[in-house]
Amino acid sequence: MKAMRFHEFGSSEVLRYEDVDRPAPGTGQVLVRVAATSFNPVDDHIRAGVLAEMIPITLPYVPGIDLAGTVAELGADVRGLEVGDRVVAMLPLDSAGGAAEYVLAPAESLAPAPRTTELVDAAALPLTGLAAWQTAFELAELKPGQTVLVNGAGGAVGGLVVQLAVDAGAHVTAVDAPQHADRLRDYGADQVVGPLDLTAGPAAVGGPFQVVVNHVRVSPEELAQLTNYVADGGVAASTAGSIPEDPARGVRSANLWVRSDGAQLAELVAKVDAGRLRLHVAARRPMAELAALHEDAGAGRLTGKTVVLAP
Ligand SMILES: NC(=O)c1ccc[n+]([C@@H]2O[C@H](COP(=O)([O-])OP(=O)(O)OC[C@H]3O[C@@H](n4cnc5c(N)ncnc54)[C@H](OP(=O)(O)O)[C@@H]3O)[C@@H](O)[C@H]2O)c1
Repeated sequence: MKAMRFHEFGSSEVLRYEDVDRPAPGTGQVLVRVAATSFNPVDDHIRAGVLAEMIPITLPYVPGIDLAGTVAELGADVRGLEVGDRVVAMLPLDSAGGAAEYVLAPAESLAPAPRTTELVDAAALPLTGLAAWQTAFELAELKPGQTVLVNGAGGAVGGLVVQLAVDAGAHVTAVDAPQHADRLRDYGADQVVGPLDLTAGPAAVGGPFQVVVNHVRVSPEELAQLTNYVADGGVAASTAGSIPEDPARGVRSANLWVRSDGAQLAELVAKVDAGRLRLHVAARRPMAELAALHEDAGAGRLTGKTVVLAP
């Protein structure tokens, strides 16, 4: 089968489109014919080797943490799935990923794919959806009626956090560049504002807020200023660097390390099928062009969430 792999860490040029053996499912594993994976910023960090200590991968490595595809073969002790089922998964970070014609997935990571989107676009959901869910409901413990500021709201994770928060009955202030504003209003954000002027403080955007969620990689000094946007007794949750706590005001803080969870992913899929969560796919690119896609991501040329189509 065809797969995209890298044999050493480095720039996008280390990615090679190769012929490799098709894997066979072991106990508890499912062989999935890949329809698509997607690009996540962490793919770039893994390929560059900057996460080698945190995520101990084996080289050569197939990137692609997201999976949308069709069940091709079941390993021993796998129940509740049949060959031909359309599935999605967040694959384990330390094993072969979805940039291949076939991939092995742990059965418990799989959820039925949404019925209301094309299968390839469903690859936009797993990692970002789980990151959004875990940030909003596990770290921030978001409740109906709360005020929430989402920084980086137009991005892949942020757009899903906005929609989950609106769906949960929160009042959302969405922060991102103007080109995302119409979509964020459409998601139901109460207020949409441009990038924060951190010197102006929270009152300039109607804060402070009971919950502040951050998806923008900024300096430690800027992260520290975000603490001021959290109301007394509130919480800051971040996927992109740690916002300091303020114990004197009862402000706590939590950082995400997203984990795969098939049951949680199934709840996200149900929201997609119920029309309560929309996937925003900016581009579809062929897997054979993955090196160019990584190059574009590194140069800031991606226009949004990009799914990567298997051959
Ligand atoms: N730790 C974890 O488990 C975990 C899991 C998932 C994601 N993450 C991290 O979370 C971050 C977001 O991921 P993502 O996939 O959502 O990335 P993304 O799609 O690139 O989203 C980032 C968003 O932030 C916007 N932005 C950039 N600078 C901004 C500023 N100064 N103020 C407001 N908005 C700004 C970007 O706008 P433009 O598009 O206009 O530039 C973009 O819409 C990444 O750093 C990623 O690595 C971590």
